[in-house]
Amino acid sequence: MYRHTLHEHLNDLCTRGGLSIAGPDNGFYARFLANSSDLEDLYLELYSGHPEGRRLFEDLMEMIIDAYRSRPSEMRSRDSWKEKKGNWFLSNQLAGMSLYVDRYCGSLHELPGKLDHLEDLGINLLHLMPIFESPEEASDGGYAVSDFRKVNLRFGSVDDLKNLQAILQQKDMYLMLDIVLNHTSDRHDWAKRARKGESYYQDHYYFFPDRNVPDAFDATMPEIFPESSPGNFTWIPECEQWVMTVFHNYQWDLNYRNPAVFIGMLDNIFYYANLGVDVLRIDAPAFLWKQLGTTCQNLPEAHSILRLIKLCTSIATPGMALLGEAIVAPQEIMKYFGTGTYTARECDFAYNATQMALQWDALASGDTRIMLAAQHELMQKPFGTSWITYTRCHDDIGLGYSDQTIAQAGFDPREHRLFLQRYFTGVQEGSPAMGALFSANPRTGDARISGSLASLCGLEQAISSGQARAIDTAIARILMMQAHSIFIGGMPMLFYGDELGYVNDYSWKDDPSKHYDNRWMHRPLIDWEKNARVHQADTIEARIYSANRKMLSIRRDHELFADLKNMSWLTPHNIHVAGFLRQWNGKKIYCLFNYSATDKFITWYIFKEHGPAAVRLHDHWTGRDLLVGRDDEYLVIPPYGFMILDHKVEK
Ligand code: GLC
Repeated sequence: MYRHTLHEHLNDLCTRGGLSIAGPDNGFYARFLANSSDLEDLYLELYSGHPEGRRLFEDLMEMIIDAYRSRPSEMRSRDSWKEKKGNWFLSNQLAGMSLYVDRYCGSLHELPGKLDHLEDLGINLLHLMPIFESPEEASDGGYAVSDFRKVNLRFGSVDDLKNLQAILQQKDMYLMLDIVLNHTSDRHDWAKRARKGESYYQDHYYFFPDRNVPDAFDATMPEIFPESSPGNFTWIPECEQWVMTVFHNYQWDLNYRNPAVFIGMLDNIFYYANLGVDVLRIDAPAFLWKQLGTTCQNLPEAHSILRLIKLCTSIATPGMALLGEAIVAPQEIMKYFGTGTYTARECDFAYNATQMALQWDALASGDTRIMLAAQHELMQKPFGTSWITYTRCHDDIGLGYSDQTIAQAGFDPREHRLFLQRYFTGVQEGSPAMGALFSANPRTGDARISGSLASLCGLEQAISSGQARAIDTAIARILMMQAHSIFIGGMPMLFYGDELGYVNDYSWKDDPSKHYDNRWMHRPLIDWEKNARVHQADTIEARIYSANRKMLSIRRDHELFADLKNMSWLTPHNIHVAGFLRQWNGKKIYCLFNYSATDKFITWYIFKEHGPAAVRLHDHWTGRDLLVGRDDEYLVIPPYGFMILDHKVEK
C-alpha cells in the first residue's frame, strides 16, 4: 500500500544523497518507491519490538541508497541488460561449476588462465567456494569467515577478485560467491569483542551464562555435526558464557533478532553485489532464526529475513540473483522460493537437493519409484524461479526426503535407509561404491554420505580391479547421473573434478585442519597433468570429459532446456526407468534414464501420449534416428543408458 510519508522521506533521502530522481536515477527511485511499503512492513515485522528498530530502519534506507550510488556503472548497465532479458537466470545458456580456487589452480591470479578450459567444457558461471578470510585450522572449508571484506591471502586479494570479475564479464561469464549469513568465525571482530565481554557484541550472538537455556534449546534442536561438534553450544571460558554454535564450535551463530546484525550483514551483501556477483549463494538460510521449543530451522522469520534481503537487493543491485542453500525436507525447500504474496519474491534459486539425493537412491536400488513419489512436491516450484541441479557438490549427500515418500513407493523406510548407507560405503554385497558415512548419529540412526561422484559410481573400485567392463559400467553410471541433472531443468552446477572423473582423495586424514571432516575426500586437489589427459582419446578422463561437454552443448542448443516450468514426468512404464518430457514452442524432447544394470524395455506408446504421436525420434546423445514402433513393441535402453529423444512427427 502507498504511504505518503514514506514517499516524501524517500524523496528527501534521495535528494540529500545527490540522486537525480527524475533523471538517470529514475529507475532506481521507481524500484525503491514501489517496494518501500513492503520493505517497511517486512522490517517492522521483525524489528518493531526492538528498542533500536526504528532508528536502524533509517540506516537501512540510507544503506540501500549508498549501495546503489556506489554501484560501478558497468554493473548498472549489466543490471539493465538483465532486466530487459527478464528472468535471465532461467536460461539454458547458463551452466556452472563450483570449485575451490586453491585446490583447482592455486590462486585467483591463476584462475583467468583456466577460463578457456572451462569455456571449452561449456561452463560460463563460476561458483568460487568461500575465499574470504577464514582461520586455516578452523575454517570449515571457508564457511567460518573472520573478515567478510578481506580475501584470504592464500587465494590472493580483493584486487585479484575484481580483476577476475572484469575478465568474466568481458567474456560474458558469470560469478557466484557465498555470503555466510548464519554465523561468523570465532575470530571475527564481533566475536573477539564479545569474547572480551563487550555486551554490545555479545548481543550479536546468542550468549547464555549457564546451561538452563542451552539445555532447553538442545532438547528440540537436532545436531548438525554430531561426531565432530556434538550439541549446539560451546563454553567460552574468557567470558564464562555459553555461545550458540550449531555447526562447528568455532562457528558462532548470529543473532538476527538484533537489527544491528541484519544491517551489518546486509552491508556485506551489498559489498559482494558491488564486486559484481551475479548469483549470491546464501549459506544455510534455514538456520537464520532461533526459537526455543523448535528445531530452529525453517522458521517463518528466516523467510522474512530472506524476503527483506531480496527486496533490498532488487532495489539497489537488481542484477544479482539469490540462491538459498536450504538443504532441508522437500516441502520446506519449496518455501524458499517464497509463498503467498511473496511467491517467486524470496530466493531466485534453491538447490534441488531432493532430486539429487533421489538419483543416488535410484542408482543404488535400480528402482525409480521413490524418485517419482517425491515429484508432486518438487513440481510446485513457481514460475520465475529455478533450481540448481547437481549430482555432487562439496557437501555430503543427505537423504532428506521423508519416510512417507519411501513407504509410498513400497519400501520400509528404516531398512531402505540402512541399505543406502551400506550400499554407498561398499558394505552391501555387489556394491561398487566407495564412500563413507558422514555425521552418523548412533542415537537417531541418521547418516549422510561422503564420496566423489566417480567413487560412488564405482570408478575407484573398477580401476583397482583393472577390469575394462567394470570401468565402462562405472563411466556409464557417472554419465547417466550427470545427464539427469543436466537436462531435468534448472541451472546445472558441476563440481570441479567430476567433469573428468576424479576419485576420492584420502590425504585429508593426515591434515590436522581436515581430519575431523571426511567431506574432504571428495574435494580434490587438481593435478593438471591428469587434466591434460582429456585431450588424449580413450583415456578415462577424455571419455568422461567429452561426454559432459557434449551434454552441456546439447542443452545449450535447445531453448526448451531453459527452466520455463516446461517439464513433466512421463507415466511410469518401467520402474527402472525415469523419464520426463521437456516442451516449448511446439518442440518436444523426451529424456529417459535406465537406472538398472540390465537392458530395459519401454513401450513405444510412451511417445504417443502427449499430443500428436511421434513417428520418428532423433537421439541427440547417440545421434541415432529411431522409428517409433507399434504399441506392443519396445524401445530398449541399455544398462545405465540414457536417451535425449527429439520428437519428430514427420517420417
Ligand atoms: C553449508 C555449507 C557447508 C557448511 C555449512 C556451515 O551447508 O555448504 O559446507 O559446513 O553451511 O557453514
